[in-house]
Amino acid sequence: MWNKERILVTGGASFIGSHLVDTLLKKGSFVRVADDFSSGALKNLEYPLKQSGTSFWSYNNLEIHRGDLKDRDFTRSVVQDIDTIFHLAALHGGRGYIHTHPAQCCSNMILDQLVFEEAQRKGTNRVCFASSACVYPAYLQEETGSSYLLKEDDANPFSRDKAFADLEYGWAKLMGEMALKAYHRQYGMKTSAVRIFTAYGPRENETHAIMALIAKALIKMDPFVIWGTGDQDRNFTYVQDIVDVLILASMKIEDGTPVNSGRPDRLTINQACQLIFKIIGWHPKKIKRDMTKPQGVASRAADITRAIKILGWKPKVSYEEGFQNTINWYRNHKDINYVQKNLDRLLLER
Ligand SMILES: NC(=O)c1ccc[n+]([C@@H]2O[C@H](COP(=O)([O-])OP(=O)(O)OC[C@H]3O[C@@H](n4cnc5c(N)ncnc54)[C@H](O)[C@@H]3O)[C@@H](O)[C@H]2O)c1
Repeated sequence: MWNKERILVTGGASFIGSHLVDTLLKKGSFVRVADDFSSGALKNLEYPLKQSGTSFWSYNNLEIHRGDLKDRDFTRSVVQDIDTIFHLAALHGGRGYIHTHPAQCCSNMILDQLVFEEAQRKGTNRVCFASSACVYPAYLQEETGSSYLLKEDDANPFSRDKAFADLEYGWAKLMGEMALKAYHRQYGMKTSAVRIFTAYGPRENETHAIMALIAKALIKMDPFVIWGTGDQDRNFTYVQDIVDVLILASMKIEDGTPVNSGRPDRLTINQACQLIFKIIGWHPKKIKRDMTKPQGVASRAADITRAIKILGWKPKVSYEEGFQNTINWYRNHKDINYVQKNLDRLLLER
C-alpha cells in the first residue's frame, strides 16, 4: 500500500517523525515533511539534501518544507495532492517542558484543527494522529508500584469519569482525537489516533527522561540527580516500535478509534538508571533525589490487547537493546563538553 503513496508527515523533522520518514521512504512512498524546526531539526533527516530557497529541501522521494502549520496558507499548500497525513507536529517535550509551558501546549489545539480542516477540504484520504498517553486520567496512575494497565476506553471526552487528561498537553491531544472522530462521522475521512507512551531512542532530546539520564551519566554527574524519588515508573517504548504502530494504525483503522502504542511492562526511574550505569560501565558514588522537580504520574503502562487484536502488533525491541542503541547514538552524535555546560537548559527547553 505504501509504494508510491503520497504522504505528508507534519513534524517530520522531529525525533519520532524522522524515524517514520525513514521507514516510509524505505517502503517506496513519496514523503513530504512540513516542520517549523521549533524542536525538530534538518539534521534528523540524514540524507544528502539539496536546498532551493530558504525553506525547501529535497532528495529523491523526500521533500521538506519549512513553515508554521498555524499559518493556514502554509498548511493548505502542504496538504495539496496528499493521500495520507501522519500528523505529528506539536509543541511538546518531556515532563519539565509540558509542566512549564502550559500555554504552548494549549496552542496545539489550533494547530491540530487547522491540519484536519485543510486535510478534509483537500480530500485527503487518511489522517493518522500522534496522540499521547497523557489523554488518560491521572487518577488511574497515582499509585506507586501499580500493576494497572491503561485501556483505550479509560479516556473518553464524553464520559463524566473518563474525561480527565494529564495537564493541558493531554487535554489538547484528547480534543484532537475527538475532532478526528467527528471528521470521520461527518465527512467519512479515514482517521486513526495512536496513543504514544513515553517514547525513547536515537534523536530524542534531553527534556525526556531516558535522554536526560543518559546525558547525566555520560557527563558523569556525581551526585547523580534524579527528579523525584525514582520510584515512579513508565513503559519506555523504543521509537521503531512506535513507528510500526503509526503505519499499521493508518492502514487498519478508519473511524478514529484510538490505539495504545506502548509496553505493558515497566521500569522505575531507579531501574532505568541502573540499566544505563551498567551499559556505560560507570556508577556515581551518590544519588540525589530532587523532590522539587516535576515527576508526572506515579505509574504508567499500556494494555496492548487492542493493538494485538486490530493491528497484530507487539513491541519487538527489549529494554536492553533499546537503551544500548540510544546510548551508542548519544555518544556518537553529541558533544559531551557542550552537554556538560548547557545541561540545565537542555533538561527544560526543547
Ligand atoms: N516523545 C514521546 O514520548 C511522545 C509521547 C506521546 C506523544 N508524542 C507525540 O509525538 C509527536 C512527535 O513527538 P517527538 O517526541 O518526536 O518530538 P517533538 O514533540 O519535538 O516533535 C514535534 C515536531 O513538530 C514541529 N512543530 C511544532 N510546532 C510546529 C508548527 N506550528 N508548525 C510546524 N511544525 C511544528 C517541531 O519542530 C517538531 O519537529 C508529537 O505530536 C508528540 O506530542 C510523543
